[in-house]
Amino acid sequence: MAGRAVALLEEPPTAPTVAGAEVEIAGLHHAYGATTVLTGIDLRIPGGAHVAVMGRSGAGKSTLLSLLGGLEPVQTGSVRVDGEPLERMGRRQLAEYRRRTIGFVFQHFGLLDSLSALENVELAMAVAGRPRAEQRRRGLELLDQMGLADRRGNLPGALSGGERQRVAIARALANQPRLLLADEPTGNLDDDTAAQVLEALDRARAAAGCTLVVVTHEHEVAARADRRIILTRGRAEQTP
Ligand SMILES: Nc1ncnc2c1ncn2[C@@H]1O[C@H](COP(=O)(O)OP(=O)(O)OP(=O)(O)O)[C@@H](O)[C@H]1O
Ligand SMILES: [Mg+2]
Repeated sequence: MAGRAVALLEEPPTAPTVAGAEVEIAGLHHAYGATTVLTGIDLRIPGGAHVAVMGRSGAGKSTLLSLLGGLEPVQTGSVRVDGEPLERMGRRQLAEYRRRTIGFVFQHFGLLDSLSALENVELAMAVAGRPRAEQRRRGLELLDQMGLADRRGNLPGALSGGERQRVAIARALANQPRLLLADEPTGNLDDDTAAQVLEALDRARAAAGCTLVVVTHEHEVAARADRRIILTRGRAEQTP
């Protein structure tokens, strides 16, 4: 454990530290009670890809993201992340999978209001059992990468929407996720701020080498991705 902490401290700050997770989805169905949302999704997302998921409201985009992130158990079909089948995991294994593999960025930030920007980022690492010194070092480094070094002491209430979202991205990256999932990360931001947040996500992906799946309604957001997935009537269509 101590050896690992030392190794992490010695990593150069900008070197890619993770390889992006590869995702393979086959025959995925999902229903909430009598409402069937996904009716047979087959997809392959290569490691390190940047994918946009689009589709009308209610098409199942957030559902697909929750399944990928292990927030919802797989009902029917298969979701393999780096070959690991999520459908075979119990609650505890899914929690471990989320902690080890996933970073989430939600539309509504999900920051704790009583903690500063830095403390919000550190908390994610505390939960994962990272040493205190590493939490501080990496927290500061991530906020700096997001252009927020001088905002580190601010509570979320004293940050702009774009700044909060960049704190949320820093937090999602804290534990070096191999799969970064973002659900409409610019949904309630103005165009300029949205562009900054997207730039931050893009840079984060490039620096960390992680796979990025972004749910969006916006064509400018989708245009940044290497591939687009459109959900229609429970099925997925991939466009180059
Ligand atoms: N926990 C739940 N219980 C019951 N139905 C749900 C639940 N979550 C989602 N649904 C339903 O499943 C469908 C897909 O929801 P989902 O949130 O995945 O859509 P979405 O594509 O993300 O939509 P939006 O663009 O509005 O966010 C919707 O009809 C929704 O009402
Ligand atoms: Mg949604």
